[in-house]
Amino acid sequence: MVDALNGLEGVVAAETVLSEVDGLAGRLVIRGRLLDQLAGRVRFEAVVHMLFEGFFPDLPGDLAAPLGAARAEVFAETAAIDARLLALNPVEAMRALTARIADGDDLATALRLTAAPAVFTTAVLRARGGGGPLAPDPDLSHAADILRMLRGITASPAETEALDAYLVTVCDHGLNASTFAARVIASTQAGLASAVLGGISALKGPLHGGAPGPIIDMLDEIGQPENARAWLEAALDRGDRLMGFGHRIYRVRDPRADALKAAVARLGHGAERLPGRLAFAEAVEAAALAILKARKPDRPLQTNVELYTALLLEALALPPAAFTGVFAMGRVAGWIAHAREQAAGGRLIRPQSRYVGPAPKLAA
Ligand code: ACO
Repeated sequence: MVDALNGLEGVVAAETVLSEVDGLAGRLVIRGRLLDQLAGRVRFEAVVHMLFEGFFPDLPGDLAAPLGAARAEVFAETAAIDARLLALNPVEAMRALTARIADGDDLATALRLTAAPAVFTTAVLRARGGGGPLAPDPDLSHAADILRMLRGITASPAETEALDAYLVTVCDHGLNASTFAARVIASTQAGLASAVLGGISALKGPLHGGAPGPIIDMLDEIGQPENARAWLEAALDRGDRLMGFGHRIYRVRDPRADALKAAVARLGHGAERLPGRLAFAEAVEAAALAILKARKPDRPLQTNVELYTALLLEALALPPAAFTGVFAMGRVAGWIAHAREQAAGGRLIRPQSRYVGPAPKLAA
């Protein structure tokens, strides 16, 4: 029996046409396009189309209207929001509502599931704030409608572009933990809703998509650039990890960090709202990278996607409680495409475990 590979590091567990993560070059390719050619340049609907292409025979040329209609359709499920659901963490509440969508492998199911994190996260957050959920406007773009459903006001074009850049940046990323979870489920032919629910569940952990909320806490606790070094050293002395740094695949800077930093800069912070926030985050980042380099000289630990995710979503006036749900709004497209790819061409994913428990007592 071969040794168990801790964390499956280095294992190639799928072939995919969807995305390539080059951890040494710091490069992300999505369906033949570099991230730079997509983020800030195309809408989320366009990358959903790219990801779905070849996996649904009836895929129309433009997904804006069908995705808008799917948002309106799944909104009916928000009637199930009650006090027990609102007592859950917002991601768990969004997951519970998503679980009301029936399994299926067709485009209609895929679009309902693509709409689900957007409609349910915004509805749950509105309801938690004491307001009623706002029904989707199918005529708006997905990003514009998300901001309107959440904040109750029409977003500026710059804000919509910034959220679009984020959703595009995180739409797919190789065989990350949530996508692997989705593919394992899809390999049993369970259906797209089951695969997406598995993806949401894996995403919510702080080692994956749950990091941006704690990053805001970190920035707030540090408060001033001159406090950064002492705060970060103390966190590492306690044995904490610095959220927003390190990655299983990237040994250089995560290219998504720069795509999102550029989106924050373009937004100009809605500048009045967050004066100096970008410069402050850069100072904290520089301090963290220097400390990590000194403490872990053999393990290159660089900025990952989450630091500037936190900054961008904060600049869009989204509460930290929304962050993981907003990540799911983008990544859901990748989960669905991977699930279709796996179900279409892959075998059941069923590795082995090595038993290290006690041997059975044999009768004398
Ligand atoms: N802060 C401090 N030390 C770190 C960090 C960090 N952020 N990341 C890794 N290390 C250290 C580990 O302590 C370990 O040191 P050791 O060998 O002395 O014990 C070494 O670097 C290797 O760490 P692993 O856990 O083996 O690395 P792995 O590839 O499993 O972890 C992960 C990747 C989970 C992202 C990790 O870097 C981490 O916990 N980062 C902080 C959380 C975070 O930012 N999550 C978002 C990731 S991006 C995404 O999923 C969208």
